[in-house]
Amino acid sequence: MNVLITGGMGYIGSHTCVEMLEAGLTPIIIDNLCNARSEVLNRIEHLTQQRPVFLEGDVRDEAFLDSVFAQYDIDSVIHFAGLKAVGESVRKPLEYYDNNVNGSLVLTRCMRKAGVTSLVFSSSATVYGDPQSVPITEQDPTGATTNPYGTSKYMVERCLMDLVHAEPEWSITLLRYFNPVGAHPSGLMGEDPQGTPNNLMPFIAQVAVGRREKLSIFGDDYQTKDGTGVRDYIHVLDLADGHIAALQQVGAKPGLHIFNLGTGQGSSVLDMVNAFSQASGKSIAYELCPRRPGDIAKCWASTDKAQRELGWKAKRSVTEMTADTWRWQSNNPQGY
Ligand code: NAD
Ligand code: UFG
Repeated sequence: MNVLITGGMGYIGSHTCVEMLEAGLTPIIIDNLCNARSEVLNRIEHLTQQRPVFLEGDVRDEAFLDSVFAQYDIDSVIHFAGLKAVGESVRKPLEYYDNNVNGSLVLTRCMRKAGVTSLVFSSSATVYGDPQSVPITEQDPTGATTNPYGTSKYMVERCLMDLVHAEPEWSITLLRYFNPVGAHPSGLMGEDPQGTPNNLMPFIAQVAVGRREKLSIFGDDYQTKDGTGVRDYIHVLDLADGHIAALQQVGAKPGLHIFNLGTGQGSSVLDMVNAFSQASGKSIAYELCPRRPGDIAKCWASTDKAQRELGWKAKRSVTEMTADTWRWQSNNPQGY
């Protein structure tokens, strides 16, 4: 099966390509490299002994996409490409709507021209906003987003829902990721944020390796077990396997399919600091700071639907997430 992977050189896309190659699927990557390094391709080849096709280009470039669909016999598309930094999205809303929403519209238009109607979209738990209760199920309300990044994901979801309603031959799968962390256990691939990391795990990893002095913990007065924010951290390889399960179980089934991809377990910021400290043998310096605007107290997934309908369940523990992140970070202190 030939699967076009937009954003396949990025963090989640690259791990998904490795898992796909190992499962006998053929990824064809397009990426404009705005947040990725071409070295990723060498690492994928090293791990799988296969070098996927990589075409440098932008998902908003309709002529480029038309040429890709004309050249390759694509069965399905996984659409990872997009911008993802919450804070930056507040400062640059037009860039985020253009990249994430317009990019998705151009992609689906080109898919339709090429007669390709199977799409898996990278959505996010951010579409649930501040949840009324946890665990969050796929039926819970969406749309009360708090920043342009989250709104862009919600807008794409709505566009795709309307598309499948109007043209029922499409198979559209919305995968709502919780908090992807971890790295390939080889230590050859992982998350390589440019500049100061926005997210917790890469920040902790850079403190452990000596690139940053200390972690700021945003809030210790939430209604949680230790006062710090609770999230559902999921190993990036489990997430990658969730995409393969989605392609195999529902990718050829017309209709709209929505799944949470999480573990169903919540961990606090302090849980993650302690787990990382254990994994790395380093103490992680931190200071308690005020809450970060827009953050919620707790968020974790109900995983029942994915388990029931995809036969997929996350397998890897927080211990593996932190150990694999540390192996990647300590072997590649400056990233790729
Ligand atoms: P990433 O930045 O590592 O990967 C995205 C890739 O897309 C990058 O390689 C980038 O160069 C590429 N790209 C961006 N805009 C493009 C464009 N217009 N044309 C072509 N390529 C483009 O991010 P990631 O963590 O791998 O996230 C992948 C997807 O999952 C994104 O859509 C993101 O919003 C979504 N997501 C991520 C998280 C997370 O915490 N990492 C959580 C929920 C959802
Ligand atoms: N945190 C800190 N210090 C930091 C970074 C984070 O204390 O330096 C805390 C946050 O306050 C939060 C937790 O660590 O309690 C996790 O924060 P992240 O920034 O790692 O993740 P978020 O849950 O805020 O957001 C992530 C992605 C979003 C996505 C969302 C839901 O960044 O894109 O998960 O999938 F929408």
